[in-house]
Amino acid sequence: MAKAVRVHQTGGPEVLTYEDVEVPAPGKGEVRIRQRACGLNFIDTYFRTGLYKAPSLPFIAGNEASGDVIDVGPGVTGFHPGDRVAYTFGLGGYASERVMPADRLVKLPDMITYEQAAVLMLKGLTVHYLLHKTFKVEPGQNVLIHAAAGGIGLLACQWAKALGANVIGTVGSREKADLAAHNGCDHVILYNETDFVAEVKKITRGDLCNVVYDGVGKATFPGSLDCLRPLGMFVSFGNASGVVPPFSIGELQRRGSLFATRPTLNDYIAKRRDLLEAADTMFAAVISGSLQVPIHHAYALKDAAKAHRDLESRATTGASILKP
Ligand SMILES: NC(=O)c1ccc[n+]([C@@H]2O[C@H](COP(=O)([O-])OP(=O)(O)OC[C@H]3O[C@@H](n4cnc5c(N)ncnc54)[C@H](OP(=O)(O)O)[C@@H]3O)[C@@H](O)[C@H]2O)c1
Repeated sequence: MAKAVRVHQTGGPEVLTYEDVEVPAPGKGEVRIRQRACGLNFIDTYFRTGLYKAPSLPFIAGNEASGDVIDVGPGVTGFHPGDRVAYTFGLGGYASERVMPADRLVKLPDMITYEQAAVLMLKGLTVHYLLHKTFKVEPGQNVLIHAAAGGIGLLACQWAKALGANVIGTVGSREKADLAAHNGCDHVILYNETDFVAEVKKITRGDLCNVVYDGVGKATFPGSLDCLRPLGMFVSFGNASGVVPPFSIGELQRRGSLFATRPTLNDYIAKRRDLLEAADTMFAAVISGSLQVPIHHAYALKDAAKAHRDLESRATTGASILKP
């Protein structure tokens, strides 16, 4: 019998229920996958609490995983039983087996492990679009990355450094500061102990930043806007500390004609061509050694509640996976 972690009612980590599930035969355009590794993401906590609304209850948590195709439905071309695949897609990721649309899958290069893929499909592709599409990072630019030692954070610091940026990161502890520094962060700020806006002013000698990547949300707003130079870009891509409050658009004008955006990965990979191009670029960066995949924690799938507790209490660093 397949196993999955389901949410019957939204709430704390205790609502994550490990149970038997029926996995149907794949329908038209679908494949069945035996999953090898599932990604743990902050977005999983938003669906679990109800901050983001799941289409129905109960639902299987999780938005990212890797595994092997074991069955294909009618009309599927390009995928066969035995293919190693990975995806980021809707809900349903925390499972030992699942059925899903084939057109959301990518095939894994031999050099990419299931574990790496279960971290790269959501977090790696997010970092790819943030640094290459939302705002194109260029050599010499001052780039501020909040929660720099997190799953997104460590990948973003490495990639921004590889693009030649002057990378400034904020973190919640000294241990996290060391990690960020080892992953491409030129300057690390302990934002629980110091005023990060003042630190950014000092580090940049008043020049401030070209872009701020902010997945922390409420706690770093509006400080993030104050870290930007005129015409700078505020990229608010998450709410780890709570949602950014509504603000007047005049705040952007007052600080120097700033730009602000609230992007989400799905919009950047909605077309299959964009998904495949971004995945190719990302896998190539890992295979060439320019991007290290920071998997720091592995949990059994049945321990998903503990994984959520650790993530929400800021006890994790880098990326975490769940093993079915
Ligand atoms: N828009 C998109 O396309 C997209 C895609 C993927 C992820 N995201 C967002 O990216 C962010 C990072 O995701 P992730 O999965 O890589 O998580 P993560 O960064 O590994 O974990 C979140 C980190 O946020 C920091 N944080 C600050 N205040 C916090 C608070 N009150 N509670 C909990 N954590 C707090 C903590 O680091 P410190 O202790 O160092 O402060 C914590 O480790 C999330 O906001 C997520 O929603 C957005």
